[in-house]
Amino acid sequence: MQKNYHSRMTTMCDSSTSEISLGIVKPHAYEHRQEIEWMIHESGLSIPVKKDPYRISRSTAEKHYAVHKGMPFYEELVKMITEGPAEIMLVCGENAIERLAKLTGPTDSRKAAKGTIRHRFGDNLMYNAFHRSDSRESARREALLYWEESELPEEIMNIFDRGSGKPV
Ligand code: CMP
Repeated sequence: MQKNYHSRMTTMCDSSTSEISLGIVKPHAYEHRQEIEWMIHESGLSIPVKKDPYRISRSTAEKHYAVHKGMPFYEELVKMITEGPAEIMLVCGENAIERLAKLTGPTDSRKAAKGTIRHRFGDNLMYNAFHRSDSRESARREALLYWEESELPEEIMNIFDRGSGKPV
């Protein structure tokens, strides 16, 4: 485990109504992480837990982006996400997956609307500043690449387990 990060373990997630997404401020946008956090808070979502700074290893990047293996942009993608410090965060709130997706904007930053994270801080398809989970299942899978289950507050694991249909 890396030691050079701060992790806030107080939660602001109401487990009866919250959904969780995983967000990553990518290395090329790392200097803008505070503005990105501010945009997330301003939209009414919470960041109960984060790792900052966090250097993503090649092995974690390969697991995170396994679905893109074999795509022409895969090698550059792994290089981009591992090339410097990133900020990893869990984002919670009602309909957090959809709300964070809207706030982030489309994959191609050049097509992102004003007011989105990718419009402000992204450059193109690859260098799009911010990653967010595309479903509850992805959020749980991705979160467990960066945190051990035992490190996460119980409310968060309850929200994940409810999302995947497991009884709580
Ligand atoms: P992200 O949300 O992190 O999920 C996968 C990433 O792959 C995506 O953002 C982009 O950074 C990158 N990506 C997706 N499609 C392309 C593409 N066609 N060309 C280059 N990069 C891409």
